[in-house]
Amino acid sequence: MAQAKYTTHHGMVDILPDEAVKWRFLEELIHREAALFNFEEIRTPVMEQTELIVRGLGQLTDIVSKEIFSFSRGEDNYVLRPELTAPVVRSYVEHRLDQRGGTQKLYYIGPMFRAERPQKGRQRQFHQFGLEIIGSSDPVADVEVIAFMIHIYRKIGITNTVLKLNSIGDPACRERYKEALKEHLRPNLEKLSDVSKVRFEKNPLRILDSKEEEDQPFIQNAPVITGYLSEASELHYSRVKELLTDLQIPFSEDPYLVRGMDYYTQTAFELISPDLGAQDALAGGGRYDLLVEEIGGQPTPAVGFAAGMERLLIACDELGIILTPEKQVDIYIVTLGERARKWGLSKLQYLREKGISATMDYSGRSMKAQMKDANREGARYALLVGENELNEGMFTLRNMAESTEKGVAFDQILNEISCSSRASS
Ligand code: HAM
Repeated sequence: MAQAKYTTHHGMVDILPDEAVKWRFLEELIHREAALFNFEEIRTPVMEQTELIVRGLGQLTDIVSKEIFSFSRGEDNYVLRPELTAPVVRSYVEHRLDQRGGTQKLYYIGPMFRAERPQKGRQRQFHQFGLEIIGSSDPVADVEVIAFMIHIYRKIGITNTVLKLNSIGDPACRERYKEALKEHLRPNLEKLSDVSKVRFEKNPLRILDSKEEEDQPFIQNAPVITGYLSEASELHYSRVKELLTDLQIPFSEDPYLVRGMDYYTQTAFELISPDLGAQDALAGGGRYDLLVEEIGGQPTPAVGFAAGMERLLIACDELGIILTPEKQVDIYIVTLGERARKWGLSKLQYLREKGISATMDYSGRSMKAQMKDANREGARYALLVGENELNEGMFTLRNMAESTEKGVAFDQILNEISCSSRASS
């Protein structure tokens, strides 16, 4: 086959019709379940001012230093959003959503952009669904976020997951911990990987996230952050664990779990799937009590999570979970001759208005070719229409699965089709 002249950008993919049905199914499920939890949808532009993302996520994070797609127009510098927590907070502050009263429980679905090296489960344009609860410092909010996340995967049938949990405390705890960590690593600084050497001064917590082999012995016996938590942070963390236990949501504490953005405080978590291979994080999130203020709002606590939708779909494939019912057309009108085609076209509209999915051939093919097409489309019925049928007002309705035929008047069709859907449902 000749190679296409124009292709998608490296790491960005087209979602073709056979895949798009799964996406729609997943999106509809998320909208439905979010409504059950009383969350409201928010949609923001795909571009944001560079400064928002740099301040929000942190200058020294991998995302900001290496992975953003940035460009300028005139004096203004923009990025394609790499995530949605900072943009949602920007929107919250810009539109004074606090004035709506109460805690804002906002969810979203949409594309994100990170210029990472593409591999299975890692793309440059990928999609997340997520949730941000803004305005509550209560551990109940942390647990509602986690419960929603777990609920979606359970609903889909992905249950083989591990919820990793940690607390990274407040900035004061973290400063004390950073010093202890540096103390521990300093004698072996020369033996660390090059990336970790750079991180040592700039962002030592990120060393804990290193996948480099030479770093592992020093990470494995490093001090843990939970030993440096203030009393308030300790209390918050133990309430979260208690509430998760009450809700029978199992978790595994990972004192080395540090997340990739600087805005986190207190609770941090990730949902891991052993069915995913190297990119095994299905979702991640945590508390970010200082971000609203950092972006120019009133001090407002918040917590949220986001999930990778491509990874969720990969997990479904691995587990043999089919996210969508078979594509189905209720009725395919097979026509012979121009008068029958015209008749068919008007009846298509009528059937669709009655809630029946209906289609026909658009290119004047033979009846045999139309029957083949009806099969390919997975039509439940074919209605055969030619001159004789039109003159007599009686048509042949073919049940495609059973290969049986019946003579019917047009006004009997609705009845025939709905009787058989009742029987099969
Ligand atoms: P994150 O951990 O960077 O968190 O991303 C969340 C999820 O997005 C990941 O667990 C993964 O499933 C998916 N993901 C990330 N990068 C890629 C990629 N290049 N290709 C495919 N999937 C990817 C956040 O984005 C935070 N905003 C989560 C949050 C919300 N924290 C608080 N509120």
